[in-house]
Amino acid sequence: MEIKITRSECLKAKPDSNALGFGKYFTDHMFVMDYSKEEGWHDARIIPYGNISLSPASTTLHYGTEIFEGLKAYRRPDGGVQLFRPIENAKRMNRSADRLCLPEFPEEYFLEALKTLIKLDEDWVPSEPGTSLYIRPFLFGNDETLGVHAVNHATFMIILSPVGSYYKEGLNPVSIMIEDQDVRAVRGGTGEAKCGGNYAASNRAGDRAEKKGYSQVLWLDGVERKYIEEVGAMNVMFKISGTVVTPALSGSILPGITRKSIIEMLKKEGYKIEERRLSVEELAQSMKDGTLEEAWGCGTAAVVSPIGELCYKDQVYIVNEGKIGELTQHLYDTLTGIQWGKTEDTYGWTVQL
Ligand code: PLP
Ligand code: COI
Repeated sequence: MEIKITRSECLKAKPDSNALGFGKYFTDHMFVMDYSKEEGWHDARIIPYGNISLSPASTTLHYGTEIFEGLKAYRRPDGGVQLFRPIENAKRMNRSADRLCLPEFPEEYFLEALKTLIKLDEDWVPSEPGTSLYIRPFLFGNDETLGVHAVNHATFMIILSPVGSYYKEGLNPVSIMIEDQDVRAVRGGTGEAKCGGNYAASNRAGDRAEKKGYSQVLWLDGVERKYIEEVGAMNVMFKISGTVVTPALSGSILPGITRKSIIEMLKKEGYKIEERRLSVEELAQSMKDGTLEEAWGCGTAAVVSPIGELCYKDQVYIVNEGKIGELTQHLYDTLTGIQWGKTEDTYGWTVQL
């Protein structure tokens, strides 16, 4: 792939690394590549970060033909920069593309585009503890027609954002509301694809939860509204009577790369882990009888995030006295140790820039 690079003539001032928040600042450049049925993927370019022009009839604006990914670049203690399992993101993006009838993006292009863009904006990878460069690849249908059909034209882009922690709580436990009205996804729908529409459909419940003082919603399955699925931007895990239980990938849950990594870590370290259906009644019972020892969410943006409070049908349950649990802390330390290059990566997950 040949990437044409147009450098920005006016580099931006970098934000304060101690007050980054999440997704508020963007680097100097972005990657763009176009697709047409006739030409395939073509015209790979890196250009200054800025607004893009779209036809008002573009399919993405009307029918939500959009998918995205999220991964991070980490500053190692020796000053180098590394990525965490980027090929997993490339593979998942192509599974999402298949679900939405968008063109697949070759994995080797994905990695080359990421690396070339990050190298150009490498100064933007922050080094304060807990900070990283969030990478947002996205792909959208771009046909100029109001007809509903699979796309003939598409665009793939990558933008970069230096970030701190996703939740204002940082590593302090977050409060989560179990949603019993709206549903996020159903099997056969788009729940296991990372598409924008899933997040749009989540906003109403998220808003309601926020008004009640909760950080995010924990979704139940869309058919019986009985089984635990995932949180708005992360998968969930519970330690019940010494066993880690996480909802099995049912077709309506996003197959998280952090989830997959934690399962591999737990297995290697000899923990008992079950991927299975977990009903909200079973979870509530474990909170009542005290067998729920720890609960946490996991995802790229949120890393490992302890859950200190769960609310279901106005009943509030406090998990582990509202404190981070021992295993949650261990997983956070091990995973972030590998991601930031402080611990040896015996899994071969990291990719040097
Ligand atoms: N579930 C949802 C709905 C998400 O948006 C995310 C974040 O990407 C995850 C789970 C966790 O996935 P990953 O670990 O690949 O970031
Ligand atoms: C991520 O963790 O990368 C996510 O995509 C979460 C995002 C919706 C903010």
